Amino acid sequence: MRVLGIESSCDETGVALVDASGAGTPRLLAHALHSQIAMHQAYGGVVPELASRDHIRRVLPLTREVMQQAGCRLQDIDLVAYTQGPGLAGALLVGAGVAVSLAAALERPTLAVHHLEGHLLSPFLSADPPEFPFVALLVSGGHTQLMRVDGVGVYELLGETIDDAAGEAFDKSAKLLGLPYPGGPHLARLAEQGDPTAFALPRPLLHSGKPDFSFAGLKTAVLTQVRRLGEGITDAQRADLAASTQAAIVEVLVKKSLLALKESGLRRLVVAGGVGANKRLREQLDAQCARRGVRVHYPELHLCTDNGAMIAMAAALRLRAGLARTETSGAFEVRPRWDLAAA
Ligand code: KG4
Ligand code: ZN
Repeated sequence: MRVLGIESSCDETGVALVDASGAGTPRLLAHALHSQIAMHQAYGGVVPELASRDHIRRVLPLTREVMQQAGCRLQDIDLVAYTQGPGLAGALLVGAGVAVSLAAALERPTLAVHHLEGHLLSPFLSADPPEFPFVALLVSGGHTQLMRVDGVGVYELLGETIDDAAGEAFDKSAKLLGLPYPGGPHLARLAEQGDPTAFALPRPLLHSGKPDFSFAGLKTAVLTQVRRLGEGITDAQRADLAASTQAAIVEVLVKKSLLALKESGLRRLVVAGGVGANKRLREQLDAQCARRGVRVHYPELHLCTDNGAMIAMAAALRLRAGLARTETSGAFEVRPRWDLAAA
């Protein structure tokens, strides 16, 4: 059973082929990715219409590349999976439309996948996949959630952000510091040269006693500091502010993850989504979890941000769990807003 996965929910076109034959964890045969970051950088953020048009240009060449890499023909595909949501409506429609058309031409079924479920199950693409049950920290540009995961499709939301996502906090603070889009990795790089204790920035809801988050106030605090320092801001001060911002976000993410682990009594943590690539977050989580006898699993670094492999893997795992509702009618819809717990 070979599953093709197509991801097009935001600013990355990802295509991958997974082999789900046999009883073991499905295996990644090939994947290809095109990031639109360079194209959107001039605008300081994702321009939805440009994103859709670029997905159209990239998706078929990427599919050909994947099939060539895997040494397979299109006829070898048994199922075409695609991201149904959440994401940008136009961008999702490209992936869904291509997936359904390709499946119809090949006379194969399709399977609609939740983008966050893709992130959540992406550590199964690593050499050391996690065992159920675990707590998942989902930290991307649009979402920040803690979930209890008892199996494929068995997700309980423990807490989430009441305003901005962690990735958004990284991106917005980076923009205030004059860094290019998407700011997260740039801010992280600048932070390496700064002092994380230089600025006392807020850690909203840190002591709420619940696994919830709020990052909007942090962005305002960074803005206040940037305005106070004005045009005379030095490179050292920018690095200090970047390091202090990163420290504030990471401290909240670590503390809330530990709270969710303690409350659920679970001893395994899975970190997924773009912010999961952050080095300081990984270091702090590793140190704190090691002290408590908790194992932490991450997706491979290059599979933290959006990609087609996680969509193909989620489809393969859902299929194996008997949860997949495959479609052969050629009808499809996208779900730009879609709750994972209701998926
Ligand atoms: O999961 P993802 O690729 O897309 C969404 O589904 O949103 O996550 C993208 C987010 C962006 O906000 C980006 O700035 C952030 O992940 N990100 C990072 C790092 N790498 C990516 N944030 C902090 N440190 C990083 N190294
Ligand atoms: Zn994502």
